Amino acid sequence: MRSREKEVTKVPTDDEFPGTEAVRGLFDLSGKAAIVTGAASGLGRQISLGLASFGADVAVADINFPGAEETAKKIREIDRRAMAIKVDVVNWSEVSEMDDKARDEFGKIDICFNIPGLDSEKFSVWLGAC
Ligand SMILES: NC(=O)c1ccc[n+]([C@@H]2O[C@H](COP(=O)([O-])OP(=O)(O)OC[C@H]3O[C@@H](n4cnc5c(N)ncnc54)[C@H](O)[C@@H]3O)[C@@H](O)[C@H]2O)c1
Repeated sequence: MRSREKEVTKVPTDDEFPGTEAVRGLFDLSGKAAIVTGAASGLGRQISLGLASFGADVAVADINFPGAEETAKKIREIDRRAMAIKVDVVNWSEVSEMDDKARDEFGKIDICFNIPGLDSEKFSVWLGAC
């Protein structure tokens, strides 16, 4: 396994982050809501867990719904809100539905990450959420 493929198995606690509380405060995402696509594995999962660890609630979306649910479960374990959404990011109606579901759940979206890397003939549709 290449190192970039290593999975986070749990979200770090406050005590496990380097830096002082004051430094951590600069990155406080409490009260923010995020959407991350490609969140079932790899970079998207790591970003989702990172956002949650700094206080954000996260809609974790992926074409791999069971994987997204697993990411959401890890986020809920640290008492953040998370919802898993099945989405194919090249399908506009699914992206639009994802946006609606996340806004219904969190009331707003502050942060978006669109992670899946696709081949040159399949460009991700624009994430209109942000
Ligand atoms: N991991 C890294 O360190 C790294 C570094 C630089 C660039 N990248 C690039 O970032 C992208 C993601 O990398 P990764 O390592 O996280 O890959 P990954 O394969 O682990 O994760 C990609 C995720 O996107 C999902 N996905 C694929 N197609 C989708 C679609 N149509 N709709 C919704 N979800 C879809 C997959 O199910 C998967 O969960 C790639 O393009 C990669 O080249 C990754």
